[in-house]
Amino acid sequence: MAKLYINPSIRKGHINPELQGHFSEHLGRCIYEGLYVGEDSPIPNTNGIRNDVVEALREIHVPVLRWPGGCFADEYHWKDGIGPKESRKKMINTHWGGVVEDNSFGTHEFMELCRQLGCKAYVNGNLGSGTVQEMSEWVEYMTFDGVSPMADLRAKNGHEKPWHVDYFGVGNESWGCGGNMLPEQYGMEYRRYQTYVRNYDPENPVKKIACGPSVDDYEWTEKVLETTSRKVPERVHCLMDGLSLHHYTVPGTWESKGSACDFTGEQWYKTMYQAWYMDELVRRHSAIMDKYDPEGKIGLIVDEWGCWFDVEEGTNPGFLYQQNTIRDALVAGLTLNIFNKHCSRVKMANIAQMVNVLQSVILTEGEKMLKTPTWHVFDLYQVHQDTDLVESFLETEMIGPEDASVPSMTESASIDADGVLHVTMTNQSLDADYPVELSLATGKAGTVKGCILTGEMNAKNTFEDPNHVHSIAFDAFEATDNGVSFTLPRHSVLRLDIPLE
Ligand code: AHR
Repeated sequence: MAKLYINPSIRKGHINPELQGHFSEHLGRCIYEGLYVGEDSPIPNTNGIRNDVVEALREIHVPVLRWPGGCFADEYHWKDGIGPKESRKKMINTHWGGVVEDNSFGTHEFMELCRQLGCKAYVNGNLGSGTVQEMSEWVEYMTFDGVSPMADLRAKNGHEKPWHVDYFGVGNESWGCGGNMLPEQYGMEYRRYQTYVRNYDPENPVKKIACGPSVDDYEWTEKVLETTSRKVPERVHCLMDGLSLHHYTVPGTWESKGSACDFTGEQWYKTMYQAWYMDELVRRHSAIMDKYDPEGKIGLIVDEWGCWFDVEEGTNPGFLYQQNTIRDALVAGLTLNIFNKHCSRVKMANIAQMVNVLQSVILTEGEKMLKTPTWHVFDLYQVHQDTDLVESFLETEMIGPEDASVPSMTESASIDADGVLHVTMTNQSLDADYPVELSLATGKAGTVKGCILTGEMNAKNTFEDPNHVHSIAFDAFEATDNGVSFTLPRHSVLRLDIPLE
């Protein structure tokens, strides 16, 4: 019997809703078709944005959305995407499939999408191929309330009042597609560009995100923080509010990543191993951040994460379209547990990507739409948004092949404003169901409710059978003196809600 100890009276930090954030890029069918179909489409839409997709996303309370990239961000010139649609510039999306980008989805459409979703806006600026002036004017265009050239232009384009931009990214993957820079070089550029990302609303400042490392590039983290924290008058914590981190779960090589649905047990464990690596990455990058920011003011922003498999056969390789199975659900569940456990440093995370690209929560085909197993995990985990993490410890064993072993289970626990304890757990094993005894160090459990997501390891939802994988109520637990006991089935994601008495 595995023991799960929870002490609801020891609070370990606040779980920002943004840990369950999303990412949408001008890539494949994410924006066009997936989110935006245009006002004239026969697919039901509001101001061009799909009603069915918005409804499904509102159900999981998307807290924040990052846009327009990704690699696309450093080639995006925002002025191409404003004004009358018929006169917007057409361009080639060189990164993603070489298709024509007609810029019909631009700043106004993105802000409208955020409005419909009820989420915060995370706009990623172009440092790679854009100028300081261009970045500065974009922020002025979006956020300045008064008389200025950019505010006037915004009003002329139909939006008199400014929007609020919650987060602004100063470049993306500047070590790669965003300019192939060295860390010191990026650090210097960051210092200059961010100076002109003005805060026109001091009460509600735009949070600036610097480009952080790829996976385990600890040197990047160290050198960017060192360069940006070199003393200047009025230095404020390395001049940033957040530092990004990108890590994808790729069970094979970049050339042959493996199929999204047709995989072996060995590939399953390799996937879990890659996903679990996030824990080490967060810990080690956080340790470097602690040195430069001991007060923990700078958030680690994991603004790209998720499974990256080979594209579905017959689809454009540049579109990164992949199916989604119970394996993806486990990756999502264990990764969100990692973020919760590190919530004192991880302030935002954005799964890549929202619709039709990589580990999506939604897939579309024409007028059809489905919710993936990953959507169901976000649905289960949404109770953690805006809660306090509480202390928990789970006894586990290491499972899987020797060179890719992972803990058998993961967990995180939080307490909400009404005093309800939320526990989420994953069981990564392909063949073991684990009996668990959950003990509360303080308080008594009231009437427990549960919900579980499970299925065959490669079970998925299809357009023919869109509800094949879905969560169901779970009540197979027994009350004990100080908690509950239950069995966590193999390859499952579980949530328990425990009112405390
Ligand atoms: O999400 C797909 C791509 O992965 C993004 O454009 C880029 O930032 C990363 O390499």
